[in-house]
Parts: sequence; structure tokens; C-alpha cells
Amino acid sequence: MKRMIVMAASVALLGGSLAGTAWAGPESKCKACHTFEQGGRHKTGPNLFGIVGKKAGSTDFKKYSKALKNADWVWNEENLKAWVCDSKKAIRDLTGDEHAKTRMGKQKKCGDDAEAVVAFLKTLQ
Ligand code: HEC
Repeated sequence: MKRMIVMAASVALLGGSLAGTAWAGPESKCKACHTFEQGGRHKTGPNLFGIVGKKAGSTDFKKYSKALKNADWVWNEENLKAWVCDSKKAIRDLTGDEHAKTRMGKQKKCGDDAEAVVAFLKTLQ
């Protein structure tokens, strides 16, 4: 059992550092689930064109969580940075509901990485 935990931990670490080396721009990680161009299709997550300055949960994406469907905030640099770092925590802060959940996993793009992601999102206008 202990050995499995150690193995899982090293796989996670390896995954982390590989993702680090493969960092080919902020969109590289997000594009598995999102498109960025105007009118782009929704994938696992909604299209992100014009996301900065847009009301959260307001595209015609059908699979929003309850928290995003009922969202009352507008995406800005600050809340997007929190979102791409830790969406699971951000959704609780943004809704003010400690039980709120989002369907988007934690992306762990924090600090400088979050700045880079948001700088990229701002170009989608
Ligand atoms: C594994 C799939 C996946 C990845 C990877 C992913 N997202 Fe998401 N994203 C989602 C899903 C699903 C939602 C809808 C969440 C909900 O309804 O709770 C979402 C929602 C969002 C929203 C809110 C959209 C709106 O209309 O309010 C933003 C902004 C966002 N993602 C940005 C990003 C960025 C930037 C990245 C890369 C750092 C990223 N996502 C990576 C699946 C993903």
C-alpha cells in the first residue's frame, strides 16, 4: 500500500515536470477542453472567446454546473487568475457558498503562470 502511494506520488511529480517542459503557451493546457476563436464550438468546457469582461456562465454551453449557471460575477483579471490556479476554491469564494462545486478541475496555473494565461485570455476579443 505504502509503495503504491509512493509510486502515485512520483508519477504525479513526473507529470507535473513534464507539463512544465511542454508549456507551449497558456492555451496549451486549456485547449483540451476549450476553443478560443469567435463562434468556436464548446468542447468539455465552453468556448472562451471574449471571456474577459463577460458574465460567468453566460454562453450557450449546455453543461454548466449549477454554480456557474447561477453565477452573478463578471470575469476579470483577478478572478480569472484565481480560477486557473484553483477553480475548486475559486468557485466557493466567487459564489460565497462553501459547498459550491465546479465541473472544471484545478488547473494549478498560479502566480506567473496565471498572469500568462490571463494575458492570453485578454487577447480573445
Ligand atoms: C479537463 C477539461 C478542462 C480544462 C483542461 C480546462 N477547463 Fe475551463 N472549464 C471546463 C468546464 C467543464 C467548465 C464549466 C465548469 C462549470 O460549469 O462548473 C469550464 C469553465 C471555464 C471558464 C468559465 C467559462 C464561462 O463561460 O463562465 C473559464 C474562464 C475557463 N474554464 C478557463 C480555462 C482555462 C484558462 C484553462 C487552462 C488553464 C481551462 N479552463 C482548462 C473544463 C476544462
